[in-house]
Amino acid sequence: MRISFAAAALLVPALLLGQAMQQLAIPPLMEADTLHLTVAAHTHQFYPGVNTPTYGVNGEYLGPTLVLHKSDTARIVVENQLEEITTMHWHGMHVPGEMDGGPHSIIPPGASWMAEYPVKNPAGTYWYHPHPHLLTAKQANLGIAGFLLVRDSAEAALDLPRTYGVDDIPLVIQDKKFINTGEMALYPVGDSLWVNGTPDAYVELPAQVVRLRLLNGAIARVFRLGFEDNRSFEVIAGDGGLLSAPVATNRLMLSNGERHEVLLDLSGQEGDSLLLMSFGNELGQSVPGSGNVMFEGSVLNGIAFPVLRIRVGAPTADPVTSIPATLVDNAPPDESSSVRTRTKTITGMGMVAMGQFLINGEMFDLDVVNDTMLLGTNEVWHFVNNSNLAHPMHLHGVSFHVLERNGAPPPLWERGPKDVVLVAAGEDVKLIVHFGEPADADIPFMYHCHNLMHEDHMMMLQFVVMDPVTATAGTAPRPVLVSPSPTTGLVRFAAGFPVAQAVVRDALGRVMLAQPGPNTSEGTVDLSAMPSGVLLLELEGNGQRAMARLVKE
Ligand code: C2O
Ligand code: CU
Ligand code: CU
Repeated sequence: MRISFAAAALLVPALLLGQAMQQLAIPPLMEADTLHLTVAAHTHQFYPGVNTPTYGVNGEYLGPTLVLHKSDTARIVVENQLEEITTMHWHGMHVPGEMDGGPHSIIPPGASWMAEYPVKNPAGTYWYHPHPHLLTAKQANLGIAGFLLVRDSAEAALDLPRTYGVDDIPLVIQDKKFINTGEMALYPVGDSLWVNGTPDAYVELPAQVVRLRLLNGAIARVFRLGFEDNRSFEVIAGDGGLLSAPVATNRLMLSNGERHEVLLDLSGQEGDSLLLMSFGNELGQSVPGSGNVMFEGSVLNGIAFPVLRIRVGAPTADPVTSIPATLVDNAPPDESSSVRTRTKTITGMGMVAMGQFLINGEMFDLDVVNDTMLLGTNEVWHFVNNSNLAHPMHLHGVSFHVLERNGAPPPLWERGPKDVVLVAAGEDVKLIVHFGEPADADIPFMYHCHNLMHEDHMMMLQFVVMDPVTATAGTAPRPVLVSPSPTTGLVRFAAGFPVAQAVVRDALGRVMLAQPGPNTSEGTVDLSAMPSGVLLLELEGNGQRAMARLVKE
């Protein structure tokens, strides 16, 4: 069963009636030594004549696609112009807890936060989104999210499409529910389908091998992707980088927060048109988006619906015309390397939002550490789902491999490095996880259900990763909150420790100011006499160090 765009339009609210297809928006690419992200409230017309309140990153809805290079240092400044707190999380990235942007790393309204970390992940499709306790679903739904692409030499050596926006296309898929005023409702499932913030989207792609980077950015709906004509395509990457070889399939599951890269061979098909669909009619009954009448309703539940119309145009001057036979060597760690097995049992009954689902019977508490791991070790994790609903389970700061689903090896396309895994009702999914980044109890890592309703509704727990040699967790300098920035003079700072010394350096690293700290965690520095431009504030005390970038006007 499937519906056409015209039929879908009849079923969605009146304000969406009769809209023509729109050209797919491609988020701008952003590549710089220091990346600046400004989060703010806006309005945007997704539908002509309808003003919709949004949040955006450097724009009205969603954010730029950040490009990072493996082994480089990432420096990302996040400025919060919202009237509420936020945080910014680098989903899938292997960074220490204090750079991870979880719920402890609050950026108050008007403040900036800087993350600085070495890029350790292999080439792949990652993403960023806010993570403030109880506000994640709201802020992500309103539009704070973007892609983060890592490039490396192993990927660069392969003959793969990588001309952004031409033969290499990021696609964040979201369903949306509107209320009559044109506002996006915060509801588990929506009635309209957007790609990159474009409703009823089409894209023109060249008649050659093209690469699609797929991300499920929806609150709760799981997509089962395929083409209307059932053609097969090649999966080349999962959440955390390339597979060992392309895997041909005609269906691909994409749960919340998950990514896949696929290759589609459009050679010789100029003038054709094809339709990327989600086959909600094929989802298991425990999966949000299936036709399960127990769950919150939507016209898109339980049916096959269009995601993106692809029109095939002329090939480019230098097309990729074949698909490599092999990709990279990424064998999972051997199960025997595991130092410990943990079982995480999911319980609860209910609808998607109207239900209470828990991990091991525990509820999220910002002040409780639920698990302690040792840095550099591997562990086997079992997610056992005894609830009535499927949950996409995610761990921060790591990649893992799926070893088994109910005792059987996972599908071939699920065998790459991952950080989200969908666990259906009744399933026991076995993972091997490598804990390669430190996190302490002040700023621990999260593991949680990536259904954003569940994440905000306590289905999230915390873990620390201790260094067994030094018995300390976390070695990198901590980020510090500063405001305002840009500034003309006085700047307030808040570090997580008593500050004994404050130093301000210019962009060349020269010390411009050194003063004793307040010996409490909050204080001020006066930059009135400083030259304008970028300045670095370094704070020290109690054996800890923190730094932040400032802009002097
Ligand atoms: Cu997408 Cu806790 O993360
Ligand atoms: Cu994450
Ligand atoms: Cu869940």
